Amino acid sequence: MKHIQTPATPQSQADAMDTMSWDDWDELQRPTPEMTEFDGVVASAMSRRGFLGRVLAMGSGAAVMGAGVFKGSTALAASDRFAFDAIPIATDFTIHVPEGYSWAPVAKWGDPLFSDAPAFDPVSGVTTEGQARAFGENTDGMELFNIGGRQVIAVNHEYANTRTNLARSGGDVTSLDDVQLLQNAQGVAVFEVEEAEDGWRIVLDSDLNRRITHQTPMTLTGPAAGHDLLKTAADPEGRTVLGTMNNCGAGKTPWGTYLTCEENFNGYFGSTDQALELSAEFGRYGIGLEGRYAYETYDARFDLSQNINEPNRFGYIVEIDPADPTSTPMKRTALGRFKHENAACAVAPDGRVVVYLGDDERGEYLYKYVSDGVYTPGGDTSDLLVEGQLYAAKFTDDGRGEWIALTPEATGMDAAEIAIHTRLAASAVGATTMDRPEWVAVNPVAVEGYCALTNNKNRAVKPNAGGDETPVNGPNPRAENKYGQIVRWYPENDDHAAVDFTWDLYVMAGNPEVHDDAYAGSDNVHKGNMFNSPDGMMFDSAGLLWIQTDGDDSNEDGFAGMGNNQMLVGDPVSGEIRRFMTGPKGSEVTGITWSSDRRTAFVGIQHPKAPFPDGEGSLARSTIVAIKRDDNAVIG
Ligand code: FEO
Ligand code: CA
Ligand code: CA
Repeated sequence: MKHIQTPATPQSQADAMDTMSWDDWDELQRPTPEMTEFDGVVASAMSRRGFLGRVLAMGSGAAVMGAGVFKGSTALAASDRFAFDAIPIATDFTIHVPEGYSWAPVAKWGDPLFSDAPAFDPVSGVTTEGQARAFGENTDGMELFNIGGRQVIAVNHEYANTRTNLARSGGDVTSLDDVQLLQNAQGVAVFEVEEAEDGWRIVLDSDLNRRITHQTPMTLTGPAAGHDLLKTAADPEGRTVLGTMNNCGAGKTPWGTYLTCEENFNGYFGSTDQALELSAEFGRYGIGLEGRYAYETYDARFDLSQNINEPNRFGYIVEIDPADPTSTPMKRTALGRFKHENAACAVAPDGRVVVYLGDDERGEYLYKYVSDGVYTPGGDTSDLLVEGQLYAAKFTDDGRGEWIALTPEATGMDAAEIAIHTRLAASAVGATTMDRPEWVAVNPVAVEGYCALTNNKNRAVKPNAGGDETPVNGPNPRAENKYGQIVRWYPENDDHAAVDFTWDLYVMAGNPEVHDDAYAGSDNVHKGNMFNSPDGMMFDSAGLLWIQTDGDDSNEDGFAGMGNNQMLVGDPVSGEIRRFMTGPKGSEVTGITWSSDRRTAFVGIQHPKAPFPDGEGSLARSTIVAIKRDDNAVIG
């Protein structure tokens, strides 16, 4: 494959909405309340010395910090399991990979999946109708499925960038047609890919190709299905929803279906009646009177003054069968309603299915679901994500933890209420407030789970939106945490379904060039691999952890020396972390999956700035790229 070069200058200034993260937009719209005992909480934040002293005083540093953290650079170098040399940071507008590797685009925003979709226009983008038949915006979590020997990618299109997607109106939402274009640009794409002489490409008109948008009918299942809070005038039974939205990370079930995860659904709703009073539950979920895309102005379904229950029908895990393009996606309410990041599946020794789930909001929680039934290959799987128990994680500072069952007895809520207002249920049982749980990953060669806690500027500053205080705690040990960390847990008896676990921190990101306290990061962070805001995470077949970032790419001040967002590879055993890829400036690197032969890694570049990837004169295009070794060896 050719190594593609793009010019190193941005095409245009993006508007504020396009550069603002969803998280920052939420905070701007609905700031969380100030903490009342500010001084006392900040005083409890630990310094670097205090942190290490506390860990060592426990007599078993490895119980809290990962084994690699204390080995030092010599030990790390001796356990090199990496097939590549680390690359330096970058601050330009293209992709860099190690010597001996190359990359090329596979699917770009606006690429037709069907021949009846018009070709992408580099100046105006796509038409409203064409967008429903083409690759969407903001590629995110993805999985590859081998369906009868065919390579099929299912991928999320998380949100829209109006400046880019609505270039025809200068980025403004001015009509129902504009809203529908945005709705068609989001959701999920399923499409077949094939590897030709000149690289990977979309199989146009494959009978497995499919677009799922904000308008695709889907079925509600589980405890919340049919509940009064899910009933609307258009769906008086509360069982049929149009669309899935803000699809962030993903997951793959053992039986070969795709899990797409509804994250910041709150921002799509607003009210044409600004005097409308909203419930405390809406407040907990960040649902307010003004939506990010003005859907409510043109599409009554998103106008709270006309459809107050519509938001209760989003915020779930949705199961999609990629092998059947006519199948109806299933919203799995048993897995709870929150700002779902991704869904990492494991099978317990007794066959029960375990799904780890993060709620990406400052001070919210980490969850897991355990099915009642057991998985048997080829058996009936229809109830495995319908009937089961949801738990929230409680960590203690001594390196132990417990999954607390969200039962009616423990929460004072009935099963449907727990499924709909899961955040309130987790608060009721005193789960541990976390620094924005992003992706969870399960190691295929060891019984352990990992969660990227991306950052949390409110740690030890403000409570979460439910009023739960957020003092520093074991897995979230730094106040005003701007760098993030990765927590890891070891289920008791090597059983992912177990209630008890022990935990440690695999890495605390930081900047040892700028700080000499806890913000320097853990000892497996050094000048050569600095990063901030770990987000996407996936294990490869060898048990190496691929880590993607979505953070501050200013390369200045506390972030100096970190460069653009990037992808690193971590060795869970030695603790070594090595930089593998740098993304184009302004983009987030998110989503990774592999071809069935493991000779190609597919990686997502979300919301790049022009001129990526098509060069000057074209709108910026979120893109899935294929990365290969030049010798075509296995890449992961
Ligand atoms: Fe869509 Fe939390 O990332
Ligand atoms: Ca993410
Ligand atoms: Ca993120």
